[in-house]
Amino acid sequence: MSTLIPVELPKAYRLLNHGPTVMVSSAHDGAVNLMSAAWSMPLDFEPPKVAVVIDRNTLTRGLVEGSGEFVLNVPSSEQAALTVAVGSASGRDVDKFAEHGIRTLPARVVKAPLVDGCLAWLECRVIPEPHIEATYDLFLAEVVAAWADPAVFADGHWKDNQGGRRSIHYIAGGQFFETGPAVEVEK
Ligand SMILES: Cc1cc2nc3c(=O)[nH]c(=O)nc-3n(C[C@H](O)[C@H](O)[C@H](O)COP(=O)(O)O)c2cc1C
Repeated sequence: MSTLIPVELPKAYRLLNHGPTVMVSSAHDGAVNLMSAAWSMPLDFEPPKVAVVIDRNTLTRGLVEGSGEFVLNVPSSEQAALTVAVGSASGRDVDKFAEHGIRTLPARVVKAPLVDGCLAWLECRVIPEPHIEATYDLFLAEVVAAWADPAVFADGHWKDNQGGRRSIHYIAGGQFFETGPAVEVEK
């Protein structure tokens, strides 16, 4: 099981600042689900906020609308195949957790679970914006708790080479780039 340490909320944006593809977990009314999202981003420092596109045809959309909550799970490159798989089938047709043997941990604030083995997790509460949700499938949310695996992110910083476990960045057609070495410049 993953080891988690809390990430200070004003530093939570750093979990997404480099643009990793995420998996969105959601739960409502007894249903739990997981889908992938390449289109998410941090939106503010304090309180931290995120934006994510959740297509109107997904099961996730209904669960997020019903509960007003979701978790952004940041997968590692070892979870690239899983990320494509949960983004290629609907929870309407299959229990993705059973099908892929996905283990979960309870979140602290929201009902949606944290996916075991990820690098970082952001628990999010939707900020209702009906117009942009309906027009662009775009959801804004406040980050109400954030966690990271201390082997990859600690003291508000990603470790060098993320401890050897890289996050992933979706291109298309099952292809990703993985995060590479850090490039530092003097400020
Ligand atoms: C790598 C990857 C990234 C994706 N990014 C997004 C995204 O940003 N937003 C979105 O609505 N769907 C995205 N999708 C598609 C959903 O994950 C897909 O429709 C999923 O099957 C929905 O599952 P659900 O019906 O169980 O909620 C992506 C799929 C993949 C494979």
